[in-house]
Amino acid sequence: MEIDFVRSRFIKHFDGKTGNVYASPGRINLIGEHTDYNGGYVFPGAVDKGIMAEMRANGTEDTVMAYAIDLKDRVDFKLSDPDGPKASWARYIYGISKEMQKLGVPVKGFNIAFAGDVPLGAGMSSSAAMESCFACGLNDIFGENKVSQWDMVLAGQATEHNYCGVKCGIMDQFASVFGKAGCLMRLDCRSREFEYFPFKPDGYRLVLLDSVVKHQLAGSPYNDRRNSCENVVKHIQAKHPEGKFETLRDCTWEQLDEVRAEVGEEDYKRAKFVLGEKDRVLGVCDALNEGDYEKVGELMYKTHEGLSKDYEVSCEELDFLNDVAKECGVTGSRIMGGGFGGCTINLVRNDLYKQFVATAKQKFNEKYGHEPKVYDVVIGDGSRRLC
Ligand code: GLA
Repeated sequence: MEIDFVRSRFIKHFDGKTGNVYASPGRINLIGEHTDYNGGYVFPGAVDKGIMAEMRANGTEDTVMAYAIDLKDRVDFKLSDPDGPKASWARYIYGISKEMQKLGVPVKGFNIAFAGDVPLGAGMSSSAAMESCFACGLNDIFGENKVSQWDMVLAGQATEHNYCGVKCGIMDQFASVFGKAGCLMRLDCRSREFEYFPFKPDGYRLVLLDSVVKHQLAGSPYNDRRNSCENVVKHIQAKHPEGKFETLRDCTWEQLDEVRAEVGEEDYKRAKFVLGEKDRVLGVCDALNEGDYEKVGELMYKTHEGLSKDYEVSCEELDFLNDVAKECGVTGSRIMGGGFGGCTINLVRNDLYKQFVATAKQKFNEKYGHEPKVYDVVIGDGSRRLC
């Protein structure tokens, strides 16, 4: 996306003046799904697609004038309005402004126009890209850049929790803020320690196949999954008052088995997936260190199976794409992100890439009447000011 594109709209739409331009990316995740809010590990990277916003203080006390370029939609609202705007995209601007104020940033009225090239509803975190882009801008314009990167991550997450109804973890906002070109990041969501992992798989590449099935986490069963995990932790804690169990990260397989009957099969299966996924992320790290991409792929397929059968966040179309990958001999494939639609992420040998993509398009089209969209993964940088 070009700066000039956003700038020309900003100038035309408001009073002809320019502001500062900020960009934040969406993300992929190699492995470690639904582990972030369970204190586990994730393995995301930022992508080369995201949100770009031009922003400028407008001299008012608390009037925000916002223009969503792609939607051609304009919403004005006051920061002091306790309810905030209704339009879902404008709630991200309102929410992050409130959260940045809580962090001590004296946010006043501003104009903003933004656009994006990260596919919406594809499980690539377009919403986290918005939150971190706007946070980066507010921090720069009103906060002398005093808010730390981690605080911006948490402000983005709090925006989802408090204004958008999704009780998400920290993976997406983390990846969007901390991303680095060419690197995946392994994050321990409990201690928040992380390391950059240069990712240049020799002879392989990552490609996303987007089922174009709508992925909508707000008001979705996403929050139910989180509740199931917390319920299991509560039961384990009650059985072991001597211990401290904050998330499933603190629980063992034996402890999970002890509460199986009381929590019921559904919650049990969900927690079982999470414990397995925690180990798989570490397995992928070891395999990457050894250059063993076949092992990485094997673990990706296991994750898909768990997300589909135990965590139940897949859908027919994504299971279909996963089966096609398997049939084609693709090294690894799984549903990516929160689930309920969106993409599969595929680790595929270079020599198989063309044939796989062509086969997946053809078979999916025969079955569902349209082709999946194809995104080659390019791992890009995190939130930044462009000019
Ligand atoms: C969504 C959430 C993340 C994470 C993933 C699943 O993207 O925003 O916090 O829980 O789902 O791994």
